[in-house]
Amino acid sequence: MPIHGDFYMLLEILIISAQKGVNMNSVNSINPYLRESKHSETLLVNQMSLTRAENNQTVYKFGFGQSPFPVPIEISQVLAEAAHRKEYMNVQGHIPLRTAIAEFHQTRENKQWHADDIIIGAGSKILLFCVMAAFEKAEVLLPAPSWVSYEPQAKLAGHKATWLTTSFDNKWHLTPEQLDEYCANRAEPETPLILVLNYPSNPTGQTYNSAELADLAGVMRKHNIIVIADEIYSLLTYQKNYTSIADFYPEGCIVSSGLSKWCGAGGWRLGFMHIPPQLGDLMKTVIGVASETYSCAPSPIQIAATEAYSNLELADRFITKQVSLLSEISEYCSEHLTQSGVKVHVAEGGFYLFPDFSHFTIKLNARDIHTSEELTAALMDEIGVALLPGSAFGMDKLSLTTRLAFVDFEGAQVINDVALTHDFEKVKDGIKELCEWLNNL
Ligand SMILES: Cc1ncc(COP(=O)(O)O)c(C=O)c1O
Repeated sequence: MPIHGDFYMLLEILIISAQKGVNMNSVNSINPYLRESKHSETLLVNQMSLTRAENNQTVYKFGFGQSPFPVPIEISQVLAEAAHRKEYMNVQGHIPLRTAIAEFHQTRENKQWHADDIIIGAGSKILLFCVMAAFEKAEVLLPAPSWVSYEPQAKLAGHKATWLTTSFDNKWHLTPEQLDEYCANRAEPETPLILVLNYPSNPTGQTYNSAELADLAGVMRKHNIIVIADEIYSLLTYQKNYTSIADFYPEGCIVSSGLSKWCGAGGWRLGFMHIPPQLGDLMKTVIGVASETYSCAPSPIQIAATEAYSNLELADRFITKQVSLLSEISEYCSEHLTQSGVKVHVAEGGFYLFPDFSHFTIKLNARDIHTSEELTAALMDEIGVALLPGSAFGMDKLSLTTRLAFVDFEGAQVINDVALTHDFEKVKDGIKELCEWLNNL
């Protein structure tokens, strides 16, 4: 049969299949992990929040953790001027940007990095996945609670994900004893171990001090663990003395960060990762994965990011203001919640608190609220307060923990407010509603 005959036969088959619907066998072969929605918990609250907004009812948006602050105008202008940069850049990233990042983090955090050991990505999230994908088979350890995307990424990369549950009393920190005990007794000791450690943490707002990191590093070294230190919130640490696990375990520690949080530029999608040369071919392999997936971070964004990481004085001013505002509002929230009987640690960095409502278990159970999902659904339904359930972050469904992102305010207005009247009214009103709801239980 001539080639065009094949073509028409194929076309006919395609049209008939399209009319009949998609072949069910192909649908059934979709990765079962992806087929079930992993984010039902967060979607439910988002849906309820949209419905309330459509009905003109107030919604306190404490669910979504996006920076409320605008990108400094000086950096946006560089982006506008770089719009014509349409060429692909090298996969590992624009060299002046990698150099600027190394110098920036040396000045601010005393990191001794070289540009050759840094890779740029379209957000740090894709880089986290690229690293996981670079391993053939690994076990990925995640302290619970941890950010929502690590577990799906580990599973998509074909790895086993193991949650190590932490407690309020330990400030939601992974302890060296807990890590050591798990590693010493795990079922498959030959499988390489990757631990993802995020500080300041999304969702808890807590960070580790030097002594804690030094103790953890001893255990990591003992069990040969590869650590991914997710330091995306490091520049928004409220205290000046920021330390990194890489200071104590440089040979086994990958660090990721980017523009999304400190520069208010989440949608620009610019992240980076430092991979130490001691990890051998890992950087080469990650560049390979990057090359087969996103190719390079957008060129104009890389040019603007070079300015963001080079203008140290501007960054310092911007970060100092944000930190002062964030710590002010976080203190307000944690103080009022604590007074109402909620267990919550004041944030040490970033945008989040992790309120634990376990003191209200009996009263909540009496209202048929038994899980963190039921709790967040009731709060949204009854008073329009949007929180995310602890179960979305790896906590047991019955833990009655939640994540509160205290960023429902106009960042542009607040940061430029010379009168320093700081309009956090919406956040304060939401916290008051929440406390009142608890008092009336
Ligand atoms: C803990 C944590 N890690 C990584 C990311 C991803 O950041 P990026 O925008 O660089 O992909 C986020 C964003 O929400 C985050 O909260």
